[in-house]
Amino acid sequence: MILFASALMCLTTAAAAQPKACFDVIPKPHKVTAADGDPFTLSARTTIVCDAVLASEASFLQQYIKQATGISVKVGGKASRNTIVLRLDKSTVGDEGYNLYANANTITIAAPTAAGVFYGVQTLRKSLPQGKARSIEIPAVIVSDFPRFAYRGAHLDVCRHFFGVNEVKTYIDMLAMHNINRLHWHISEDQGWRIEIKSRPLLTEVGSKREQTVIGHNSGKYDGKPHGGFFTQDEARDIVAYAALRHITVIPEIDLPGHMQAALAAYPHLGCTGGPYKVWQQWGVSDDVLCAGNPETLTFIKDVLGEIVNIFPSQYIHIGGDECPKVRWKECPKCQSKMDQLGFKSGGKRPREEQMQGYIMQQAEAFLASKGRKVIGWDEILEGGLGPDVTIHSWRGIEGAVEAARQGHDAILSPGSHMYFDHYQSRDTEHEPDAIGGYTPVEKVYAFNPAPAELSPEQTKHIIGVQANMWTEYIPTFSQIQYMALPRFAALSEVQWCQQDARDYDSFLKRLPRLVALYRTCGYNYAKHVVE
Ligand code: ACM
Ligand code: ZN
Repeated sequence: MILFASALMCLTTAAAAQPKACFDVIPKPHKVTAADGDPFTLSARTTIVCDAVLASEASFLQQYIKQATGISVKVGGKASRNTIVLRLDKSTVGDEGYNLYANANTITIAAPTAAGVFYGVQTLRKSLPQGKARSIEIPAVIVSDFPRFAYRGAHLDVCRHFFGVNEVKTYIDMLAMHNINRLHWHISEDQGWRIEIKSRPLLTEVGSKREQTVIGHNSGKYDGKPHGGFFTQDEARDIVAYAALRHITVIPEIDLPGHMQAALAAYPHLGCTGGPYKVWQQWGVSDDVLCAGNPETLTFIKDVLGEIVNIFPSQYIHIGGDECPKVRWKECPKCQSKMDQLGFKSGGKRPREEQMQGYIMQQAEAFLASKGRKVIGWDEILEGGLGPDVTIHSWRGIEGAVEAARQGHDAILSPGSHMYFDHYQSRDTEHEPDAIGGYTPVEKVYAFNPAPAELSPEQTKHIIGVQANMWTEYIPTFSQIQYMALPRFAALSEVQWCQQDARDYDSFLKRLPRLVALYRTCGYNYAKHVVE
């Protein structure tokens, strides 16, 4: 067997007449070894053969080949010559890992799970040259691959601006292309409630519509245009199923007990002052939150979460907990007497309002635990005291994750410094679409090392993954979401998938044009700062 560096394999293809595949893909597979022997020829004579449980993966591969090259391969039949075989193979590495072997006769993708086969299919897909072809040469190769993290997330806020079913599905396709396996779906906010709750119909009838939206950065001027939208439960289930076929789990977020002004517009008695409230028309953090002293607040939370678990089968439900101002609670007789009743004192390590929030979050957690679910909360919830099985989502830096891991809790890393994709990606902000601020270019995303130096190896095991967040205050169109996501998702995918010592930004930049060609095939908008 002759061993080449994979980059060398690709260089030799440029001058050749027949288009050739190249495994210099993103995220970079753990190991790519060039093998001896003639290449495989992918053409209309090729057949995909698979175990029955992998029919969906076979169908994706068929569609991907057609999309990239125009070649129609068949699915079905028995393995003979010129076949791509997809099969389950318990002996391969890790739950989501796969092995891919190509020789002159056969390409085999073998993995212990359908998810692993799916990632092998993604790698094969990304190896293809883009453009109409009669046949493609795929070099003899052995790829052995598995991810670094089990939780590889991307978030989407459909509240500040609403994006519909087809847009969310396209976003899911974008995640799948980058081996991302969790969609954190932010569906409740001050500026809009986006999910049908049958026991509380006004949440969408009233809470999903705002009369107008502030122009720019809380300029005091408004656009005068109504903005709204929501997902019926059937639509949400359709999205969950669409994601599941792509091995992506949708984790819904109902943000408690703050970020609730749209819900208060629908049900004003749930606020401390009783309102009236409007679905919020500006950006920021509203002081009007769920009243902690009203017993109906906990009923509301449980009724909403009870419907949420029936829509979303995910192990985790995100219950928010970020940015909950306590100004109303400090003034509210109901909140004050509730805190007295629960024995929460001021002057201690935890202000009593923080203990109050902790109590609400723990009630939500206990309810979800009774339904067999676990919770994720933003790092603020560390301040109220945690239930036993809570996962912390660290966004104000990585300190929340460090503290959580020290306390024995799992944590997800989304530090604003590296993982907020609503930030600018260029210093030349004059020529960029308006953004929330910040500066998070592709290189900075890539440079993120998701192993906090403060943690011991044992504590580091509590870091279950990394996620990028896409808040949409300043992202009114789906095309702009794509621009903010791509190619930063590419950098993110190597942070999530590749071992630290295998990561190299120069190598990444050399591999990026191949992935960007696929973005073009898919019609995705993308930022050109590092791929011009
Ligand atoms: C957040 O960005 N407020 C979690
Ligand atoms: Zn109150």
